[in-house]
Amino acid sequence: MRRFSADYLTDTRRGMWADRSALAPLALDSRTRVLDVGCGTGELTRVLREESDAEVVALDADPDLLRAADADARALGDATRLPFRDDAFDLVVCQALLINLPEPRAALAEFARVSADLVACVEPDNAEVVVESSVAAEAPLAKRARDTYIAGVETDVTLGSSAAALLREVGLSDVESRRYEHERTVRPPYDAPALDAAKAKAAGTRIEEQAPTLRRGGLSRTGVDELKSEWKAMGRAVVDAMAAGEYERRAVVPFYVVAGRVASADESGGESADEADGDDPRESGGDADAGETDTERDAVDVPES
Ligand SMILES: C[S@@+](CC[C@H](N)C(=O)[O-])C[C@H]1O[C@@H](n2cnc3c(N)ncnc32)[C@H](O)[C@@H]1O
Repeated sequence: MRRFSADYLTDTRRGMWADRSALAPLALDSRTRVLDVGCGTGELTRVLREESDAEVVALDADPDLLRAADADARALGDATRLPFRDDAFDLVVCQALLINLPEPRAALAEFARVSADLVACVEPDNAEVVVESSVAAEAPLAKRARDTYIAGVETDVTLGSSAAALLREVGLSDVESRRYEHERTVRPPYDAPALDAAKAKAAGTRIEEQAPTLRRGGLSRTGVDELKSEWKAMGRAVVDAMAAGEYERRAVVPFYVVAGRVASADESGGESADEADGDDPRESGGDADAGETDTERDAVDVPES
């Protein structure tokens, strides 16, 4: 499983949902029970709670990140084996999860099993990320590194733009997709994450961390070393420009908000949520991890989310 730091998630999601109009297909104001799968530190969970009166449950496979998520209930578990019974929620949603899964369809099928109404995802297309920088070398280098990373990474980190087709493939209907651009800017005065990111560029740390993926993407070891050397020179230029208060950077990460409807019991001929056992809808029916109820890679810029 690809791991993320809490700092990375809180930094990259900052300001992401200042404009929430793209979330309209989730009809958050009419929800009663919502599940956020792969919640991380709960960046989307917080938005779900602010926009609805629903009980919002947050689930992640990483207990350290899950602990940081503020939710009505939390569950440790796997997106492809959700520890909940059929139809337990009326919205199951994830953000930047499917791009990290080897089997995104299996997760979506699980979402459809535990949702009685809507399944949704908010996923980026990292091939469409655009970087502009006052340091001339940065944008072309970032694109080169990102394209090589995308060619070598073992999951589909460009999945956002084709997520609607995936939802249809698992049997969801009335699928609606909206493109939402998350703009991230760095300009003076620089905050601590921006200064740290510049230092990491000058050290070339993340290029080295991503070396195996870059090699799979077609670079030789010498090619990785050359990229790293150019990256470090670019990073030093960024650090110098920041010291002079002259550095500016803008990155646009396109996310796709995609929602689809689950076939109702009448349509599918199955048992309705009300006819099912009357126990706590969050209870696990299977052998997935027990619920712990209530109790990006950025220096390389590949991918941005
Ligand atoms: C890029 S982060 C996104 C976190 C959060 N949704 C956000 O947008 O800030 C991906 C998250 O998915 C979690 N994850 C990865 N594989 C998982 C799996 N199979 N089941 C549940 N969570 C998983 C990771 O631990 C991580 O928290």
